[in-house]
Amino acid sequence: MDKLIITGGKPLSGEIRISGSKNSGLPILAATLLADAPVQICNLPHLNDITTMLALLRCMGVGVTINEKMCVEVDPTTINDFTAPYELVRTMRASILVLGPILARHGVANVSFPGGCAIGSRPVDIHLRGLEAMGAEIQVDEGYIRAKSNGRLKGAHIFMDVVTVGGTENLLMAAVLAEGKTVLENAAREPEVVDLANCLVAMGADIKGIGTDTLTIHGVDRLHGCTYHVMPDRIETGTYLTAAAASRGRVMLKNTDEHILEAVLLKLTEAGASLRTGKGWIELDMKGNRPRAVNLKTAPYPAFPTDMQSQFTAMNAVAEGTGTVIETIFENRLIQVHELNRMGANIRLEGNTAIVTGVETLKGAPVMASDLRASASLVIAGMVAQGQTIVDRIYHIDRGYECIEEKLQLLGANIRRVAS
Ligand code: UD1
Repeated sequence: MDKLIITGGKPLSGEIRISGSKNSGLPILAATLLADAPVQICNLPHLNDITTMLALLRCMGVGVTINEKMCVEVDPTTINDFTAPYELVRTMRASILVLGPILARHGVANVSFPGGCAIGSRPVDIHLRGLEAMGAEIQVDEGYIRAKSNGRLKGAHIFMDVVTVGGTENLLMAAVLAEGKTVLENAAREPEVVDLANCLVAMGADIKGIGTDTLTIHGVDRLHGCTYHVMPDRIETGTYLTAAAASRGRVMLKNTDEHILEAVLLKLTEAGASLRTGKGWIELDMKGNRPRAVNLKTAPYPAFPTDMQSQFTAMNAVAEGTGTVIETIFENRLIQVHELNRMGANIRLEGNTAIVTGVETLKGAPVMASDLRASASLVIAGMVAQGQTIVDRIYHIDRGYECIEEKLQLLGANIRRVAS
């Protein structure tokens, strides 16, 4: 299993390019299953989760060709198996996103039931109830969700009682080929949902209210092929900005978009960062200063994203003052706190709240990554710690950060990967 070895203490400084978004690339790849012709998806990040989604498409008989720039052509017309098997779903929960598209296009789908994961129980009840409201018959049998519909799915009025990104995406993809009108209320407004909706529109879908919490979809008979460029990854962007802030550094990020992470930029400004933005770039400069601790509470977009919570907890750990971090989306998403405390942080946990009192410096230690974003926080902590930090189980990081050690090296960090 690979490990990252980090020798901390240097402010990050330099320029890097941000990759395409993992969390919009995944649903967009699933959406290609709706088309009746090949679809080309560009600017995909080269990440394990994307590779898993491509493997899933391939195992259903779908044609997938990739060029060296991670432009992928998906030919959904050769599909011959409507099953997402346990072996793949087990490694990536987002496999559930093929359920809506396959069912809408072919009237039958079998998807292994995704389990919980390190950050919480993560049910899919809203996905399933929404599909049932559209006329699907769903049974859970031998660990599989077995869904079928008698003819086309039917448009429906669906209120989602929790804001769910994946649920909104699955039901949106099902609705674009359903008969008649679907209204999705209390829909997630995350930029990745918008990116998916824009891609569906490029394929011929009729969707109104994109970017709002009410999506109105008029089902069409068919979707055609298109070429679509996935948006920049806002969480990767936020992670490098936060790493730079924690290390008192200065970074210029290219190929990104300041409009998709306003809540994060606001908090970085509160932490004392000077930010400059332009078309496609963001620059952060701490002018050598220690960050100030910030209070934050995670909530659905446009509020502060849960996927940035652990990185800010790491920044607060070395900041001036005390910051309170409240996690409201996933019940077990403060697990990195124990590892940070092993590095000398002063963080007290009270239920879903972390009270972080900044210390002047952390101390390097061997630590264990437990999920994707928690791993990013340990890397940030390692970069600001005195001495050596060894981050184990970094397969979690490889699910979400393209070339993380190369990018951090470009910013001057002392970091290397070793196989053990
Ligand atoms: C997506 C993101 C993940 C991010 C999360 C919240 C992808 C691949 N992953 O995950 O990085 O952290 O959004 O922004 O895009 N819930 C239910 N019933 C359901 C579905 C969800 O109760 O049927 C609950 C979940 O347990 C959670 C909350 O809704 O408490 C939000 O989850 P959701 O938005 O669905 O997360 P994902 O789509 O799985």
